[in-house]
Amino acid sequence: MTVGAYDLAQIQQLETDHQPPLYAKRAIALVRGEGPCLFDSDGRRYLDAMSNYGVAILGHADAEFAAALTEQLQTLATGHQSFYSDVRAELLREIAEIAPTGLKRYFLSNSGAEAVEAAIKFARVATGRPNLVAAKRGYHGRTLGALAATADQKYRAPFEPLAPNATHVSFNDVNALAAAVDDQTAAILLEPIQGEGGIWPASPEYLQSAREVATSRGALLIADEIQTGFRTGAPWAISASGVVPDILVTAKALGNGFPIGLTMCTEAISAAIPAGTHGTTFGASPLACRAAIVTLRALRERDFYARSAALGAALMERVAGIGSTKVRQVRGRGMMIGVELKERVTPTLRSLQERGVLVLPAGPTTLRLLPPLIWEEQQADEFIAAAESILR
Ligand SMILES: Cc1ncc(COP(=O)(O)O)c(C=O)c1O
Repeated sequence: MTVGAYDLAQIQQLETDHQPPLYAKRAIALVRGEGPCLFDSDGRRYLDAMSNYGVAILGHADAEFAAALTEQLQTLATGHQSFYSDVRAELLREIAEIAPTGLKRYFLSNSGAEAVEAAIKFARVATGRPNLVAAKRGYHGRTLGALAATADQKYRAPFEPLAPNATHVSFNDVNALAAAVDDQTAAILLEPIQGEGGIWPASPEYLQSAREVATSRGALLIADEIQTGFRTGAPWAISASGVVPDILVTAKALGNGFPIGLTMCTEAISAAIPAGTHGTTFGASPLACRAAIVTLRALRERDFYARSAALGAALMERVAGIGSTKVRQVRGRGMMIGVELKERVTPTLRSLQERGVLVLPAGPTTLRLLPPLIWEEQQADEFIAAAESILR
């Protein structure tokens, strides 16, 4: 058998037989993507309102992206960071153009959790302190260090004890944060908008206060923009609060589907990291860097930041305008939208999938929309028609 020749039952059987049972799987196999759409193994079309958890920011099978990666594959795919690379150099220049002021050093890796892992290690080395303060409902990844910062017991409990030691405080509670940070805190680690936890935006005052508390107690502020990066109408969601973190991590959308993680830090933090104490074989390969270059250029040149801010705002208004008694609250920014229901979200997710729309959950009661930024009026109309028929 070759790829493409399997039917759904055969695909399901092989995955069930050979994978650990880690995921509650939906009963379709996605085999092809085209722009804002996905297609399953029976040829059924879906509107993609999730972009693989926020990854496929330019949609699927983007011609420019595919051509650039093909060319890079035919030129040089892999290359360790102990050698210089023209493609890596160009990506670093691109990143410098969108980096928050003062974040001048960029460590490239392969995933979100790896970007968080580097951030935690850098913060511990730079401050000489062991601990983290993070937020309840916060999500930072599944490697042991990133998992220590993740709040939900569902993810943590089976793997305890975890290092490093992380205290979890109520999100958006200035006093709780101030009370938790002490002279053993290496860093405060926060998502500017909590994604996995239910699309909860941090208030600007909370982020400003986190900045002040970190600075006054000698701790660092780490912004986790792995999910928020590039989709809230600007490269970084934290910029809206005027706060500049000491470290900013991103991943997901940066490679538009090619795995890449980025940990940005200040010169001072970078200077504190001894040579040879962190690294990765695959990170910052020419192929990964090319993927990120094409993505960043497309975001800038195709005006995606302004367009997604406007489309996201209109979409939130239209969802709220459905006037469904099932909806508790609509929140988010740009193309990161949460629709909190008064009931569990799974039946609604299922109904949307049956209507040909793929949406994610975020926590038990929130529908999470992370559409590709290539959505236009037409896709918004299609989503609203489906949502209206199900939520009314
Ligand atoms: C805010 C945040 N941090 C970290 C991660 C972990 O990223 P990855 O799954 O690439 O390891 C995620 C993934 O969902 C995330 O949303």
